[in-house]
Amino acid sequence: MNEHAKPRTLSKRADELEERMMHELGERIAVKSTLFNIADGKVEMASGPALKSANPDKYFLMGADPRLPKMPKKPTLIDFFKNRFASLNHLLQSATHALKGGHSEKVVLACLLHDVGVASFIRCDHGYWGAQMIEPYVDEEVSWAVRTHQALRFFPDPSVGYEYPEMYIKYFGADYEPEPYIVAEYERARNHKYYMTSRMICVNDVYSFDPSAKVELNDFIDIIGRNFRQPEEGLGFDSSPSAHMWRTLMWPTRFL
Ligand SMILES: [Fe+2]
Ligand SMILES: [Fe+2]
Repeated sequence: MNEHAKPRTLSKRADELEERMMHELGERIAVKSTLFNIADGKVEMASGPALKSANPDKYFLMGADPRLPKMPKKPTLIDFFKNRFASLNHLLQSATHALKGGHSEKVVLACLLHDVGVASFIRCDHGYWGAQMIEPYVDEEVSWAVRTHQALRFFPDPSVGYEYPEMYIKYFGADYEPEPYIVAEYERARNHKYYMTSRMICVNDVYSFDPSAKVELNDFIDIIGRNFRQPEEGLGFDSSPSAHMWRTLMWPTRFL
């Protein structure tokens, strides 16, 4: 047996773990939250005392991560679009499609924001997460529609020409069936007064994966201005029920 084939000692494994979980940024240590490790298939978290004893001269990061685009002191939704949303094209294409279809500004905004959950931090249940992020700042019709598109997109509505997306058959297999909580959400949504707003997200969504489409965030600045209540203190500093979500996006590697 050669040297490399030997089982790693516990302390060596602990060292490797620490290495994986942190980044040293000059005098600061940026630590990954448990979720980032769980997404790699590891239920692990960095131990504060172990990291500190390995880096006795450094403090943990408690503010902005210098590897990420800088955010202004009073960030707006537009700043998050530009600096924290990893995928803009799909959102802009959906909203552009809705705009060209002559829909109301609420529908256009709902399309523009429908996948902010995915674009910023999470896939699972992204409609619920996204709705919660925007809820304090938009009309309830918009956040309701964003939340419910999570369920509606799995169910056809021939009255508006919406079929189960071909793409989902490719992505999830022909035998995929939504979980009971999604079916129940769909049943509840069907007779709701905002049903069609959420349905319009689905209708504009399926056409919106053209990588060559020319779309501009600038086309939506006015609609955002009229329909998104930008807090004066900056998004994240306004003590709304979802302000912490925006702060976490701004500072995802803060120690606490
Ligand atoms: Fe979505
Ligand atoms: Fe989408």
